[in-house]
Amino acid sequence: MKALVYHGPGTKSLDSVPKPTVLQPTDAVVRITKTTICGTDLHILKGDVPAVTEGRILGHEGVGVVEAVGDGVSNFKPGDRVLISCITSCGKCEYCKQQMYAHCEDGGWILGHLIDGTQAEYVRIPHADNSLYPIPDGADEEALVMLSDILPTGFEIGVLYGAVKPGDTVAIVGAGPVGMAALLTAQFFSPGRIIMVDLDDARLEMARKFGATDLINSGGADTLDAILALTRDGVDVAIEAVGIPQTFDVCQRIVRPGGHIANVGVHGTSVDLQIQDLWIKNITLTTGLVNTNTTPMLLKTVQSGTLQPARLITHHFSLDEMLKAYEVFGNAAQEQALKVIVDA
Ligand SMILES: NC(=O)c1ccc[n+]([C@@H]2O[C@H](COP(=O)([O-])OP(=O)(O)OC[C@H]3O[C@@H](n4cnc5c(N)ncnc54)[C@H](O)[C@@H]3O)[C@@H](O)[C@H]2O)c1
Ligand SMILES: [Zn+2]
Ligand SMILES: [Zn+2]
Repeated sequence: MKALVYHGPGTKSLDSVPKPTVLQPTDAVVRITKTTICGTDLHILKGDVPAVTEGRILGHEGVGVVEAVGDGVSNFKPGDRVLISCITSCGKCEYCKQQMYAHCEDGGWILGHLIDGTQAEYVRIPHADNSLYPIPDGADEEALVMLSDILPTGFEIGVLYGAVKPGDTVAIVGAGPVGMAALLTAQFFSPGRIIMVDLDDARLEMARKFGATDLINSGGADTLDAILALTRDGVDVAIEAVGIPQTFDVCQRIVRPGGHIANVGVHGTSVDLQIQDLWIKNITLTTGLVNTNTTPMLLKTVQSGTLQPARLITHHFSLDEMLKAYEVFGNAAQEQALKVIVDA
């Protein structure tokens, strides 16, 4: 089968590789119909995630059709259409019992990381009963690809951990797919104001269409003043969706007393926590890896039309064009790209 294979930092190719098979009774093999590329795949290609070894098939998002299941799989059978979660969960360990699937003792984020992933014609999914979701009849499968990772990430780690409430002023720093997912799902709670902060004017304009009330280009020197000028004494919730010290710093300087900083970004270096200013402000700081425990709920909101994730899709490619898809996604600002769909 065809698959996008990582060959060490900076190197990848579309290779012909053996098709996966059921290895454990709890496995399913899924024929991928649609997949996509995540910012995290770009981090892997830069060499930021050394646990990914040469020869690994990348990808942790997608939808498909069950091809084969092991004897221990009871929720799915060949022919079922499924949504693949970026998080694998056994459903039995202490973390799974707490719905902290990200920390499953026999799973977590392993797809396209520690085991072969979804940027291929077929993928093996361990613990299929807990790691796949049935696709409702008539659903827009392309839209559901956004539920493998980015929507639960923006919602769980940004909006829920940030405790967005009706009337709140929310700032989202980073208007990439994850920041946009936080923007769309924050609106479940009717915040009064959503301030979107990014360096890319095209993404900020997209954010306006998705419901942002205020846009701040943080390329200038006066980012903090510009955000604070929109508020009385800072924001109720600051969601960090970039993963660099500068944007974490913006969040800690704009949060009002009693507010929340919800860090979503993956950080590669330390940040300078201004505890001498924050201790007196009664703020809450949260961090997290997505659990995807809200996926069934998000599926219902997509079915009802409340959430319209297809709006995040800007480009389409075939699996044969995977390298081009990476080029476009990797040059998002020039290409005006947000999420790309790859048809396998
Ligand atoms: N916690 C989790 O479970 C989880 C899951 C998925 C992704 N992530 C992380 O979330 C972050 C966002 O992911 P994404 O796919 O949207 O990434 P992305 O790279 O597509 O988007 C990041 C955005 O930040 C903007 N940006 C860069 N520097 C900035 C600055 N100084 N000020 C303001 N904006 C700036 C970029 O223009 C871009 O629009 C990444 O760090 C990613 O690794 C975390
Ligand atoms: Zn991802
Ligand atoms: Zn588990």
